[in-house]
Amino acid sequence: MHWPVVAYGELDSTNMEAQRRIANGQLEATWIRAERQTTGRGRSGRSWQSLDGNLLISLLLPLDCPPSVLHHLSLISGLALNNAIAACSADKRMSLSPRLKWPNDVLIDEAKVAGILVESSIVGNRAIAIIGFGVNLQAAPQLADRNTTSLAAHGLTLRPEDFLTYLDAHLAKTISAWDDGRDFPRIRQSWLNNSFPLDHPIAINTTQGRVQGTFAGLDEDGALLIRTSNGKIELFHFGDVAVGGEAATSANGETRTT
Ligand code: BTN
Repeated sequence: MHWPVVAYGELDSTNMEAQRRIANGQLEATWIRAERQTTGRGRSGRSWQSLDGNLLISLLLPLDCPPSVLHHLSLISGLALNNAIAACSADKRMSLSPRLKWPNDVLIDEAKVAGILVESSIVGNRAIAIIGFGVNLQAAPQLADRNTTSLAAHGLTLRPEDFLTYLDAHLAKTISAWDDGRDFPRIRQSWLNNSFPLDHPIAINTTQGRVQGTFAGLDEDGALLIRTSNGKIELFHFGDVAVGGEAATSANGETRTT
């Protein structure tokens, strides 16, 4: 393991425990793992359920990069997680094809198998990242608004501590390849190689509403590009993305007919 692990039976949230540690001046790089979270947090103010046998973990990570490149961590962590799942599958002689959905969800057959919540801060003049991973190893929550799955549902059965060794190795490798932002173009290209093809149906819900179109790649800084029906390419830095069949469904659950 590249970083030490502290393990808890129960926490409110591993990201919140990392925040408390940072507030107390504990700035050593550490994995913080919990078997259960009472208030697990997802992106966009959602909650994240604790289901038995799943991995719930956050990496508290001081970095030497300039603050201006901290947002790269979103794609970096997604790519590392995607590669960790692919490597586990290959080692078990299975052929799961995980894919990245912007910015960092990992999907299998268009159903979400893992999510990441990145929270960064500057302490003194040091950048500190909290990268929280929720991986559906054994079970997936039933959600009204999105398809979900688990690795076990695809025949890949792993204990959290075993999957963590893959995640630790792939995250360390990807962060090192990033080189504090200098080699982000290579990360961006690998991310694209592990995502959906260009022109795949995509939709994004933003505070300004929902935009539907087709995937047009990422800009050089990792922001999402969507080609809308009038051919215009729009750029997004935030939002909740749906792909494929889910992209053709409107935010209130109706399927678009036009
Ligand atoms: C998402 O919405 O997709 C992000 C989910 C992130 C969940 C993980 S579980 C471990 C860590 N602690 C939290 O409270 N959230 C993250």
